[in-house]
Amino acid sequence: MTKKRRSQHSYGKLDKDGFIHRSWMKNQGFPDDVFDGRPVIGICNTWSELTPCNSHLRDLAEHVKRGVWEAGGLPLEFPAMSLGETQMRPTAMLFRNLLAMEVEESIRGNPMDGVVLLGGCDKTTPGQLMGAASVDLPTIIISSGPMLNGKHCGADIGSGTDVWKFADAVKAGGMTMDEFMSAEAGMSRSPGTCMTMGTASTIACVVEALGLSLPLNATIPGVDARRGTMSHLTGRTIVEMVKSDRRLSTILTREHFENAVKVHTAIGGSTNAVIHLQAIAGRLGIELSLQDFDNWSRDVPMLADIQPSGKYLMEDFHYAGGLPALMNKIKDHLHPDLLTVTGEPKSAHYEGATCYNDDVVKSIDDPAKPMSGTWVLNGNLAPNGAIIKPNAASDHLLTHTGPAVVFETIEDYKARIDDPDLDVDENSVLVLKGCGPKGYPGMPEVGNMGLPQKILEKGVRDMVRISDARMSGTAFGTVILHVSPESDAGGPLALVKSGDMIEFNGPNRTLELKVSEDELAVRRKEWEKNKPVSPYTRGYAKLYIDHVQQAELGADLDFLVGGSGSEVTRESH
Ligand code: FES
Repeated sequence: MTKKRRSQHSYGKLDKDGFIHRSWMKNQGFPDDVFDGRPVIGICNTWSELTPCNSHLRDLAEHVKRGVWEAGGLPLEFPAMSLGETQMRPTAMLFRNLLAMEVEESIRGNPMDGVVLLGGCDKTTPGQLMGAASVDLPTIIISSGPMLNGKHCGADIGSGTDVWKFADAVKAGGMTMDEFMSAEAGMSRSPGTCMTMGTASTIACVVEALGLSLPLNATIPGVDARRGTMSHLTGRTIVEMVKSDRRLSTILTREHFENAVKVHTAIGGSTNAVIHLQAIAGRLGIELSLQDFDNWSRDVPMLADIQPSGKYLMEDFHYAGGLPALMNKIKDHLHPDLLTVTGEPKSAHYEGATCYNDDVVKSIDDPAKPMSGTWVLNGNLAPNGAIIKPNAASDHLLTHTGPAVVFETIEDYKARIDDPDLDVDENSVLVLKGCGPKGYPGMPEVGNMGLPQKILEKGVRDMVRISDARMSGTAFGTVILHVSPESDAGGPLALVKSGDMIEFNGPNRTLELKVSEDELAVRRKEWEKNKPVSPYTRGYAKLYIDHVQQAELGADLDFLVGGSGSEVTRESH
């Protein structure tokens, strides 16, 4: 006997409940026969004018609907909280788990058989996928796609990456305010996500590597007609997925995550992928440790020569052949036979793919950078780990010992960083506290804190920086991030004082605070007496602070790990 579709528990009943479920839907002009048992496809849309990277997703949703109708399904679009990375305070990351909760309950509570997730801007796709994973229906992703290359004074400029450079140049006196404003107008000139290998592009590549989208989803520009075509095909695909009962849990395995981490390494991807992939794996009960990222990235170099660690942009990556071309070049490092949304093995999406520009997508023998991926650091300053993106760091700082210059909060940093009397030079180690998941709250992207003006004026452009924060995927520098436990959770980071020596040894993966245990014990007693008290005492932020896990576990809320499944037995009336 064929199993009744999930949506038929609502639409298939010829009684009062069925009447209620169908009749109100008919006010949208649907004829009787669309409730005849065909697959009902939810289109989960994070469109918003306050999320400019997702501002064209309503158009793409229309293309998805065409494909769903054509394949014999019923498409029903619904909104989900949109998280505009450049707009939300105190940080969009605070709300990733809220979006995940909303998506989970929207899918669980409504009569749908499969889901298309439309997202792009950094936190939208991870939040949607976390929520969808906890329900585990057939699920496919269509991304916003990157913006066209930014332009300024006849040259390409990259989202975020060039903002940090221009801001430093203004501070150091090498760029006028008029030039700065002109660059602002030329950087973001079409719908889509940051066109560097920032977090949005990284996550789009990673979900394509996981087999959760059609091939080339990561790189087709947001305004390219072929993204509309892909959306249409995605609509067709999800209907077939429902008919085949191809759920997230039947697709995703630990080996998929290994592939994704290797792709993350080859693209020189954002450090934020670490925290998001762990949270997604946690929803599916798939083991994925911080150390896996270091272990799996050791034998893969950076092939995609894309900013912030390289020179090109996502539009160039697409014209070079996109992710299939890159995956074909690292195919010997990948598991080829893993299932994808199309029902084909992953290798069918990249095997034999042509690379049209070997300068943009380099080869394993002649990589863009020999070192890539994620280095996972351990030591008495980060007992539960910290990470650094080695390809974004300066080679001469990958082993460094220097005195700490400590900022207790981001406000403290902002107030003092350019003070001419600040006791700092290029050998100092900038340390920022209070920016972890609980402390900020939400773990903002401030880890790549700008250098002091007097150091910039000397022509220095990088220093070792350490914090419990994250950093934008568009950023670069010798920046040690995600220090765990965070300072507000009583991690040793909380005990660092200006002048303490800090020893960082990247190749050995160590991060040590050169202060005696006795002295640290004294400082800990002092910290316990004066530990920071959060001003967030109500609402979602309070819930978040009380339940968020530390960075090395993916910063999900502890009660959201795992899944609830798709079955909801009780009726609403
Ligand atoms: Fe939205 Fe970068 S700010 S993708």
